[in-house]
Amino acid sequence: MASRPRQRLDTSIPHPARVWDYWLGGTENFAADRECAAEIIAVMPDLPINARAERQFIGRTVGLLAGELGVDQFLDVGTGIPSAGNTHLVAQKVNPAARIVYVDNDPIVLIHALALLDSTPEGATDYLDADLRNPDPLLQAASETLDFSRPVGLMLLGVIEFVADETLALDAVHALIGALSPGSYVAIASSTPSVRMQQAVDVWHARGGAPMVLRSPERLARFFDDLDLLDPGVVSLPQWRPDTLTDYRDREVYQYGGLARKH
Ligand SMILES: C[S@@+](CC[C@H](N)C(=O)[O-])C[C@H]1O[C@@H](n2cnc3c(N)ncnc32)[C@H](O)[C@@H]1O
Repeated sequence: MASRPRQRLDTSIPHPARVWDYWLGGTENFAADRECAAEIIAVMPDLPINARAERQFIGRTVGLLAGELGVDQFLDVGTGIPSAGNTHLVAQKVNPAARIVYVDNDPIVLIHALALLDSTPEGATDYLDADLRNPDPLLQAASETLDFSRPVGLMLLGVIEFVADETLALDAVHALIGALSPGSYVAIASSTPSVRMQQAVDVWHARGGAPMVLRSPERLARFFDDLDLLDPGVVSLPQWRPDTLTDYRDREVYQYGGLARKH
């Protein structure tokens, strides 16, 4: 039987969703998250801009997909605690009939999931308490809301770094991509290495955070194998098709990503 979220909530160790929420200025975090975040900032003061650059990347990719590229279904895995600019808010602003399934494995995200379910009447949103590392049940549950015979926008933003095992991560992502129809798109963003980023990850692990890995842009590109990568490829997020609202273009942001089409 599935455990209840509050029974599963361990506030004594930092969790990715809650530390991310802290970087974004949210309030859904606990002392262990804030202490870990402060220690990380001490070694990598710019780390919060990774999170903010990723939120802006969500806005640009989902806006492009829902608008010009005509995608009206989204599967957003590793959603995080609800925040401004979530996928359904961006997509349904462009196309009110868009359908979005959110997935996360953190019980605190489940507790806040109601905020992700405020769909337009024409569209739909759903939330799944499921795990990227186990794609089959995830896809089965998502198919109750999404029609996988039509294009879907698969969003994997800030989540594959928490699947440290390379084979497991590649297999899970490729299983999700395998379920998509031609004409679907895949957006992936993930943390990349630098000396300070590695120090930040060392702090994270020393504080008991879930295993995470920094992947070089070349390693990230492997997740897009067999897809058509849109220009400009896998780049630091502020360099990905920046618009007038894009911040941090002159900063080193160690969060890279890209968008690709399945042929
Ligand atoms: C860094 S946050 C990113 C949130 C959001 N996607 C963004 O880009 O702003 C990573 C999220 O991935 C979730 N996550 C980590 N491992 C996961 C897994 N194996 N399956 C599903 N979600 C996972 C965490 O709980 C967290 O909410």
